[in-house]
Amino acid sequence: MCNNEEDQLNQKPYGADREMGSSSLSPPSQSHAPLDFQAESFWDQRYSTDEYFFGLEPNEFLRSQTHQLTPGQKVLALADGEGRNGVWLAQQGLDVLSVDFSPIAIAKAQRFAASLGVTLTTEVADLGTWDWGVERFDAIVAIFIQFAGPALRTVIFQKIQAALKPGGLLLLQGYTPRQLEFKTGGPPLVENMYTTELLQESFSNMEILHLLEHDARLSEGIGHNGMSALIDLVGRK
Ligand SMILES: C[S@@+](CC[C@H](N)C(=O)[O-])C[C@H]1O[C@@H](n2cnc3c(N)ncnc32)[C@H](O)[C@@H]1O
Repeated sequence: MCNNEEDQLNQKPYGADREMGSSSLSPPSQSHAPLDFQAESFWDQRYSTDEYFFGLEPNEFLRSQTHQLTPGQKVLALADGEGRNGVWLAQQGLDVLSVDFSPIAIAKAQRFAASLGVTLTTEVADLGTWDWGVERFDAIVAIFIQFAGPALRTVIFQKIQAALKPGGLLLLQGYTPRQLEFKTGGPPLVENMYTTELLQESFSNMEILHLLEHDARLSEGIGHNGMSALIDLVGRK
């Protein structure tokens, strides 16, 4: 790792180990200013290297669930960053729309897709204000979208359910509150973490096909690295 990356990791509150271990990471208690990792500039800076911050391999949970999708289906990859998950899905023959608010990430996702000769549709947009549409997607993939605190999360979870077609699938993986002990990735904010109860309640209008809290070792670039407290959800609208 070069010094520049190391400096960034030490200063910023999102990503693996050192950053989450720092005592300077507590959020400002009553501030309305966006936290660093909620700012586009934070992610643009993260992604402004040739390296892929979360690697090029798809998330393991997503890979394990892809058999549930059928080539040609329309899939939304939420906050897809540099495209490791969207590109994987496109490689499986899915019609993927990757949305992220970092133009640098989306440009890297496009370059990655082009290097593999697959088509990835992309959009630079803030998920808090984006027009998601209604009954538009056969599946929505939400892998580590925990930049969202409770208010934005409520909006995003509602939009997910509206944007899925009837019968559409949600594939979601995130961290549970114990991740704050592991410090191997994710924001250091307990209110952004997911619990079984939170997800059951949030998606009570969907059929929950799979919901599991578990620990696993992640090796996803320098962003998610080490033993992690995870929660996986597969739901059908
Ligand atoms: C932890 S990264 C996960 C990236 C990707 N899902 C993955 O697993 O590789 C979170 C992503 O959320 C994006 N993001 C943060 N806030 C956002 C917002 N309000 N709207 C859209 N994207 C956002 C960031 O640019 C970043 O790419």
